[in-house]
Amino acid sequence: MSSPPRLGVNIDHVATVRNARGGLLPDPLRAALQAIAAGADSITAHLREDRRHIRDDDIARLKAQIKKPLNFEMAATDQMLDIALKTKPHAACLVPEKRTERTTEGGLDVVGGHDYLKPFIAELSRANIRVSLFVEPSIAAIEAAHSLSAPVIELHTGAWCDYISHGQTDKAENEFQRLRHAAVKAAELGIEVHAGHGLDYHTAELISALPQIKELNIGHFLIGEAIFVGLDAAIKQMRDAIDAGFAKA
Ligand code: PXP
Repeated sequence: MSSPPRLGVNIDHVATVRNARGGLLPDPLRAALQAIAAGADSITAHLREDRRHIRDDDIARLKAQIKKPLNFEMAATDQMLDIALKTKPHAACLVPEKRTERTTEGGLDVVGGHDYLKPFIAELSRANIRVSLFVEPSIAAIEAAHSLSAPVIELHTGAWCDYISHGQTDKAENEFQRLRHAAVKAAELGIEVHAGHGLDYHTAELISALPQIKELNIGHFLIGEAIFVGLDAAIKQMRDAIDAGFAKA
């Protein structure tokens, strides 16, 4: 009997608010500790090249002080690889990164970037860091991830969530089928399936009905909800949504 997807909480936007004033508060480490106390299974943090939210010392403090797995989101660059090898997080999620984007806009180009990505995945894996590739829900991307020996993929749910929030039901249904097929294909190939980006209570519940999905990584919505109901309550409600979705799997 499988279990409901784990909930990874992304605390980047606590750092976004902190950095707006240039001081120390609110502290993303405090958010991580509180998220874990409320039921988060892991903490995700993205150290971007421009350090716009999470900073190097946040990563070091998170690794030293949280008792649950740290999922380090990173671009495939030599600098980030050095930091990952030094920090030794439980997991590293490789994401594409453009300086001008507001958030991670698309999945990694695992097909075109296959040879470039290969040594990053090999080095991280040699250091016992579980590599996940953030990909579009396409069969070609899943096959490329398999040929790169990635143990985990994270399916990009951003487009699907956008279609739902704009009431574009046909496009949403079509994108959901792509997510479903990609999840099935990855699981058939022995790759663990995660999903994330843009999820809220409603979409987290819907996606949790796909039995292949083992983990969801959720940030922006939860940190926004925390303004109104507090972080504990937002995380607990998210946990309930995930469990309710899984019960329908
Ligand atoms: N997963 C990945 C790989 C991401 O890049 C992000 C955004 O940083 C998330 C999950 C979380 O997305 P959101 O903040 O929209 O919940």
